[in-house]
Amino acid sequence: MDPAPSLKIGPYAVDPAVVLAPMAGITNVAFRQLCREFGSADSLYVCEMITARAVVERDAKTMEMITFGEGERPRSMQLYGVDPKSMAEAVRIVVGEDRADHVDMNFGCPVPKVTRKGGGAALPYKRRLFRQIVRAAVRAAEPAGVPVTVKFRIGIDDEHLTYLDAGRIAADEGAQAVALHARTAAQRYSGEADWTAIARLKEAVTNVPVLGNGDIFSAQDALDMVAKTGCDGVVVGRGCLGRPWLFGELQAAFRGQPPPPPPKLGKVAEILGRHGALLADHLGEEKGVRDLRKHMAWYLKGFPVGSELRRSLAMVGTLAELDDLLGRLDHDAESPVDAEGPRGRQGSPAKVVLPEGWLDDPEDDTVPLGADVMHSGG
Ligand SMILES: Cc1cc2nc3c(=O)[nH]c(=O)nc-3n(C[C@H](O)[C@H](O)[C@H](O)COP(=O)(O)O)c2cc1C
Repeated sequence: MDPAPSLKIGPYAVDPAVVLAPMAGITNVAFRQLCREFGSADSLYVCEMITARAVVERDAKTMEMITFGEGERPRSMQLYGVDPKSMAEAVRIVVGEDRADHVDMNFGCPVPKVTRKGGGAALPYKRRLFRQIVRAAVRAAEPAGVPVTVKFRIGIDDEHLTYLDAGRIAADEGAQAVALHARTAAQRYSGEADWTAIARLKEAVTNVPVLGNGDIFSAQDALDMVAKTGCDGVVVGRGCLGRPWLFGELQAAFRGQPPPPPPKLGKVAEILGRHGALLADHLGEEKGVRDLRKHMAWYLKGFPVGSELRRSLAMVGTLAELDDLLGRLDHDAESPVDAEGPRGRQGSPAKVVLPEGWLDDPEDDTVPLGADVMHSGG
């Protein structure tokens, strides 16, 4: 086996070199804690996307979303922004008020509502503006010693690849690591991630760690990505939806230990109960249990669960009801054979909607109007 990579992001040794990908609506404090309970306390678990503008305006819902668990270290926050000024101001607030220990920047969002305005995955095409935003964040974080990392896609589409420039620029400006989701924005979540792009980015960016992201659904996928690309760490998103124990499997694999046995349905029920309890702790019972509903199909995927019970679980309203329903599952049912296959959103490719004339001049550093969305969490 190739040696597992060793990863340092600023002052933090990330060990094993595994990162929970930021996922809006998913990686809240409860889900991060659950993943950490299975994985290593020294891996990195990134929060849901927070928009810089909302931090600057101290939007109440956003400030509430910036919640970390007791003892959660490093507190890893992802910021989205399109304007160097508001990005700098947001980072100053975050580090000045000691609200996070690590800032990741999101330049990968493919959602039309965002790219249409020039935000998300559309932005790195404007390389001067991209540079200014990264620089603004790094400078604002520097006095507090908070490392900044940058996450992006391969490009807008096959004709407009931006990742090599983005990687070099981010590293140049003092980002402490770069992460590549190896798809174009046009691919959204469809098809396969092109891991050869991760290898190319690794060749192009030699002074900071390069993290690979896309289609890690099993511990073996993570080992394969490292072996094929030479990346310094892996970022795992959809693979852990309904499978937070993947972090235990990843930890074992990276440490050369035998994998923990896959959970039977009884164990999954226990984990679901724990997830529900953590969500209820952080959001209150009503909101917490409602939030758990979206995870239900992922947890139960491939297990023999009658359609009526499945439906009831998907509409569960209280912790007591959850407990009762989970008790009715067949606790001895074995983990499904295809548990490690793709899961979560896939969708289909689509032409990326961009502002009029966006592709005309990559050097234009005008801040795009209206792209500084206020809505944190996607
Ligand atoms: C539900 C969902 C929400 C996401 N939200 C974000 C986000 O807020 N910020 C971000 O940088 N990427 C976000 N992503 C992208 C993931 O971080 C990751 O790059 C992508 O899912 C590819 O990795 P995977 O194949 O391991 O899932 C999201 C993905 C999903 C599925």
